[in-house]
Amino acid sequence: MYYDHLGCRACGFGTQETASGIKSATPSDHLVPVFDLGLQPLANDFCAPGQEHAGYAPLKVLYCPRCSLAQLSVTVRPDILYSRYSYVTSTSETMMKHFAALADLLIEQKAGPRLLEIGSNDGRMLQYFQSLNMDVCGIDPAANLAEIANKAGVRTVCGLLNEESANEAADRPFDVVIARHVFCHVDDWRDFLRHVWLTTHNESLVCLEVPYCKDMLDRGEFDTIYHEHTSYLTLKAITALLANSPFRLHRVVRFPIHGGAILLMMRSKSSRVSPDPGLAAMLAEEHITLAEWQAFDAKARQAMLAMKETVRAAREQGKRVCGFGASAKSTVWVNACGFTRKDVQFITDTTRYKQWKLSPGTDIPIVDEGALLRELPDIALCFAWNFAAEILEKNALARSKGVKFYVPIPDPKLL
Ligand code: TYD
Repeated sequence: MYYDHLGCRACGFGTQETASGIKSATPSDHLVPVFDLGLQPLANDFCAPGQEHAGYAPLKVLYCPRCSLAQLSVTVRPDILYSRYSYVTSTSETMMKHFAALADLLIEQKAGPRLLEIGSNDGRMLQYFQSLNMDVCGIDPAANLAEIANKAGVRTVCGLLNEESANEAADRPFDVVIARHVFCHVDDWRDFLRHVWLTTHNESLVCLEVPYCKDMLDRGEFDTIYHEHTSYLTLKAITALLANSPFRLHRVVRFPIHGGAILLMMRSKSSRVSPDPGLAAMLAEEHITLAEWQAFDAKARQAMLAMKETVRAAREQGKRVCGFGASAKSTVWVNACGFTRKDVQFITDTTRYKQWKLSPGTDIPIVDEGALLRELPDIALCFAWNFAAEILEKNALARSKGVKFYVPIPDPKLL
């Protein structure tokens, strides 16, 4: 189901190639363990009762003292993680505004019209770019989602990014290649960049949107650590990686989406376009060391205690608690806190694939969002806190009837 991850994915620290080409950790240069949640289920492994689930794997973060990249100690096989994938890109207002901001950036960069999205999910973002008259194509490994996209008129190649899918998608090179929240899922970065390279020309713009490790650490977002996210990116790490690649960083833009993300814009080292002058300062300001990870660990443990205490106190007073948003983050919370259906009676989610299934590793059912008004629980744990503002506004009626939302990140609030 999973294999050990040895040595830094970005700079190679801690690995040595043996004569047979096998990588092994050198005894003196080990990556440093900084956060450990023990054995955990796969965060998006929503199964119907009685259906076979994928199993458990260690959830432990290792830090590279050379380039500051944090990475999981094991890699779960991608075919297990993504073949029956239930994550569907959100159509929330927050997300639509984000797509518009990305489109503005492309216009500002004078990018051409041919756009490839890697990890295009059900084609939601590509439909938006299509509406701006761009010539789009997607690559996605989930057969159920690629089919939805193709039916909606978004050309989508079904597969992981590899030589075959890259060549199938790129009958002509693309002007823009975007991968949103995909790169942090990838084990072999050099291979990924080699395949991206196959789809580009000399002036293509390659945009990788990834959660920013600094934001995660500052805000204690430990629930974004799960098996799909094999790496927690820093600018220093990406710079180390690109040193041995045909790409260079061109510009970095920070976004509040998903609790804090960076858009890493890259161009070929032989591009005629000069890099953004602000890059060097951003790199120099980034300071992520073991001390930041220690503070993060303490904040995360505190957040788990706070949620457990809220639920315990509510149960003691005979109050009913539910979850709102069966995000991958919700799986991390309910398992880290050891909740069962007795603690959290159900979790609502708008995604049809998740409904009538169980929260991975627990007996907590996922139900439709209407359950909130039907059941009127006393407390809704907001597991989609990255959309909190929108969720609070949208659920004004339930709130007026007494439902309180517990927003756990960045600091717990009952609203
Ligand atoms: P998201 O935060 O996008 O991602 P992740 O799974 O990576 O943690 O997931 C949000 C989940 O919450 C998704 O399954 C959709 C659901 N959701 C609702 O059910 N209602 C809402 O109003 C919103 C904004 C999200």
